[in-house]
Amino acid sequence: MKIGSVRVGHPVALASMEEHTNYCFRRLMKQFGASLVRSERVDAVDAARRDRRALRLLHTAPDETPRAGQISGADPAVMAEAARVIEQLGFDIVDLNFECPIRRLLGRGEGGALMADPPTIGRIVAATVRGVSIPVTIKIRTGPDAEHETAIDVARAAQEAGAAAVELHARSVAQAYAGGPDWTAVARLKQAVSIPVIGSGGIREASDAARFLHQTGADAVAIGRGCLGNPWIFRQARAIVAGGAAIRPPTVAERARALLQLVEGEFHFYGRPLAVRRLPRTSCYFAKFLPSFAEFRGKVRHVGTLQQFRLLVREHFC
Ligand SMILES: Cc1cc2nc3c(=O)[nH]c(=O)nc-3n(C[C@H](O)[C@H](O)[C@H](O)COP(=O)(O)O)c2cc1C
Repeated sequence: MKIGSVRVGHPVALASMEEHTNYCFRRLMKQFGASLVRSERVDAVDAARRDRRALRLLHTAPDETPRAGQISGADPAVMAEAARVIEQLGFDIVDLNFECPIRRLLGRGEGGALMADPPTIGRIVAATVRGVSIPVTIKIRTGPDAEHETAIDVARAAQEAGAAAVELHARSVAQAYAGGPDWTAVARLKQAVSIPVIGSGGIREASDAARFLHQTGADAVAIGRGCLGNPWIFRQARAIVAGGAAIRPPTVAERARALLQLVEGEFHFYGRPLAVRRLPRTSCYFAKFLPSFAEFRGKVRHVGTLQQFRLLVREHFC
C-alpha cells in the first residue's frame, strides 16, 4: 500500500491510542511487526504553539518509519500550522483526528463532533494539504451515531480536498469504545473512495486481522486494544495474512523481555516520576496472564525505581 509517496510494507498497522502509543510503545510494536504506526492524538493548538508536553507526545525517530503524527482541531489555519510542526518533527504522514468521542473535544466542536459536518472536514483537509508536503490522512468513525452514517460523505470530501488515505474506526462516535464494531461500514467505504482505506475495531486476536481484511476488502487493518500487552499479535497476524503457518505464542521469558524493554524506554524517555506513575497501566497488560497477577498488580503500585521493577518482574515472570 502507498499513502501518497509513503510506502507501507504490509497491511497490519498499529492504531493510535491516547496514553499508550508513545515513541517507546510504537518502537516495540514495530519491532514485533507493525507496519504503519501512529502517535496518539495531540491538540492542534498545543502542537502549533510547540507546547512542551505536546512535543514530548510527538517525539519520533527514524527507526519507526513509516509513522504518522496525529492532531485534532477544528480551525483550518491552526490545523495547518500544527501539521507543519508534525512535518518538521520528522513524521512521514500527518493524520487528522475526526473520531475522538471525548466530551471535552465534542463540546469544542472537534474530533468526532465533525463527523456531522463533512464540508468543514473538507476545508480542514484542504488547508492542511496546502500547508505541508507530507501526505495528509484522516481518522474517522462510521458517523455521529447509529442512525447517521456519514463516513462516506466525510471520506469523499476529504479525498476531494487531497487526503491520501482514510482510517475508519468501525464504530459511531456515540458508541465510543463499547459495543461491536460494524465491519460492513468499512466494506462500504472501500467501495466508495479511491484512496487507501485502513480499518480498525474489534481486532483481539491475530486471526481477526485476517478475517477483517478478507471481509472488508480494506487495504490495511489497524490493531488497537488487541496489542496492549501483546505486541506478538502483529507478527502472528502478518503470518496468517501472508498465508503462512501460525506462529507460536510468546514464552513467559519473552513476555518479560518485551515488558522490560517498554518500561526501560519509558524511564529513559519520561524520567522516573512519570514512568513510575505510568507503571501499573503499562505493565498490567503484560502481566494479566500470570497466575500471580493479583499479587503483581498489588505490588507494582508500590514500585518506585526501575531496579525495584526489574526485581518484581524477575519474581513473577519465571
Ligand atoms: C484507550 C484508547 C485510546 C485511543 N486513542 C485514540 C487516539 O488518540 N486517536 C485515534 O485516532 N484513535 C484512538 N483510539 C481508537 C483506536 O485508534 C482504534 O480505532 C480503536 O481502538 C479500534 O478498536 P479496538 O480497540 O476495538 O480494536 C483509541 C482507542 C483506545 C482504546
